[in-house]
Amino acid sequence: MNKAEIKKAFQEHFSQDDPLIVLAPGRVNLIGEHTDYNDGFVLPMAIDAKILLAGSLRTDKQVHLYSLDYQEENIFNLDDFTVTKEQAWSNYIRGVCAMFLKTTPLSGMNIVLQGDIPQGAGLSSSAALEVGTALLIRNLHKLNTSPIELIKLAQQAENDFVGVKCGIMDQFISMLGSKDHVLFLDCRSLEYELVPAPFRHHNASIIVVDSGIKRGLVDSEYNLRRNQCEQAVIQLKQHLPHITSLRDIGIEHLHLVNSLETDLCKRARHVITENKRVQDAVEYLKTDSIKQFGKLMNESHVSLRDDYQVSCRELDLIVELAQSVPGTYGARMTGAGFGGSTVSLVADSSIEQFKAKILEIYAKQTKYTPKIYIYHPSQGARQI
Ligand code: GLA
Repeated sequence: MNKAEIKKAFQEHFSQDDPLIVLAPGRVNLIGEHTDYNDGFVLPMAIDAKILLAGSLRTDKQVHLYSLDYQEENIFNLDDFTVTKEQAWSNYIRGVCAMFLKTTPLSGMNIVLQGDIPQGAGLSSSAALEVGTALLIRNLHKLNTSPIELIKLAQQAENDFVGVKCGIMDQFISMLGSKDHVLFLDCRSLEYELVPAPFRHHNASIIVVDSGIKRGLVDSEYNLRRNQCEQAVIQLKQHLPHITSLRDIGIEHLHLVNSLETDLCKRARHVITENKRVQDAVEYLKTDSIKQFGKLMNESHVSLRDDYQVSCRELDLIVELAQSVPGTYGARMTGAGFGGSTVSLVADSSIEQFKAKILEIYAKQTKYTPKIYIYHPSQGARQI
């Protein structure tokens, strides 16, 4: 759907002209998984799949939502609303309203929304909805909330309203992604650098394969992994009293994790080595060494599979198939895991072979149908 189409849909649904329209993209994380909530480093890119929201202010306190994808309406009153079980998609919007309302009075709104980010595929459709909503509310109410504040508010909506203790990566990249760039983010200081993506001039592309396994973050082991990392920090303080998160442990102290019980040891080892891989990956991008970059993607997958234990048979199979194609530089699971998608860096001349292999073998060996997408590094959220 484009601007004109969502505008028309808004006019048809609310019999009102001239809505304000915003766009927020999904994301794929190239490397740096489960590091954000450990104050570590990540390297995502915004993708050319997005959510569009068209909205206008009302004179009362009601919020009227219409989802074109679900063909569903959801209405709530800003003076009194909670999480809803029906039309759970509306919770992301409700959550962002709730976070604004802590400091800022809001007017009611009419909103129509539509998206083409595959849902439950680990491509952050929910973060895009939160970020898009935050930007829409900001612009409709003519607030001067900064992008970083909007990002934090969107993350809080997910943490405190929806109930998923996610890190800040997804909201950050959806807001601040840039065309033809990947974003290197320090999740502690929130300092970031947009690094030019060298893939195109190497005639290579980023391919996402959706495994077809939807595993909502809410009922996943995500929060358990987070707790295990916190436990590991508490215990490692015996050796390194100054640390406050796994981010503070460099590769030179990796041996210390051996004192932890097996699960905690593995979780900590993943985070410590993954932080190093992200930093190395950025250097490789800057020096145009995409072969080495791809190798780090492969190593990241092994670490997520064996140490962090958030992969699954199907994701492992896609990664194996991807890596067996001669033109593949690297492949790994991406996002929270337990289903969702993989990301691969593949020479353009091998894309057809890559697709054919995955489509044929994955469908044969599992009960799922994979979906394959080629995404380009894209611009972050904005009014259009
Ligand atoms: C989800 C979360 C992110 C991040 C990733 C794993 O996408 O929303 O904050 O933790 O999982 O890297």
